[in-house]
Amino acid sequence: MARRFIVAGNWKMNTNIEEGILLAEQIQHGQRNPETEVILAVPYTHLFPIKKKIKASSGIRLAAQNCHDRNAGAFTGEISPTVLNTMKIPYVIIGHSERRMYNNESNELLASKIQAALNNGLKVIFCCGESLDIRRSNEHVNFVKQQLEESLFTVDSTTMKHIVIAYEPVWAIGTGETASPQQAQEMHAAIRKMIHNKYGKRIADNISILYGGSVKGSNAKDIFCQEDVDGGLVGGASLDSSDFLKIINSL
Ligand code: PGA
Repeated sequence: MARRFIVAGNWKMNTNIEEGILLAEQIQHGQRNPETEVILAVPYTHLFPIKKKIKASSGIRLAAQNCHDRNAGAFTGEISPTVLNTMKIPYVIIGHSERRMYNNESNELLASKIQAALNNGLKVIFCCGESLDIRRSNEHVNFVKQQLEESLFTVDSTTMKHIVIAYEPVWAIGTGETASPQQAQEMHAAIRKMIHNKYGKRIADNISILYGGSVKGSNAKDIFCQEDVDGGLVGGASLDSSDFLKIINSL
């Protein structure tokens, strides 16, 4: 995948199916910048009904919010990456901070989830980002480096084209507090440099690095115009079609 501008909505555990279908249709029929790739990470229960409503020509792609690191087995309540693939769901989010926090997902587990997703032909939106304590102690770049090294950097260079990175400082998620455009740019440039050091310039230049954490229609433009920011992963504001369309159109 060449570097491209992506706005992904992470609905988390919100909307019932009717509300979800309505929201997806509002986004599908809204005025959208055709250069922005739009991804909707909807609840698992909504993937199939929403997929039926979204036209391939709309350019909107669906994502699961997580998957298991095994293809099948006795894992009650889990989601198989193989099934996502057979449902033709192109993307999966791996490593969201809420899953790291509430489901104790370690860097090591995330490495095997990334491999499982890639082995099943899924593209991965890999999330990383530091807590407020780590930011205050000025260890944020090292912390994110470790997250990348211990999970993402197990991917070989030929499959890196199926990876999108989302930098989401935990202190900015759902808090209304956003990283300043400079803070976002600083970290995105650092991440791109890490990719460069590990995989070389071509892969670093081509990878899309999204910012996430209280992105809204009112602040998206200032963040997205930073050189190393290639779009956003949007939680709360993706549940409001007009705000989400504004974000999509803020390139
Ligand atoms: P937020 O969530 O936009 O509500 O801060 C972002 C995310 O968790 O991906």
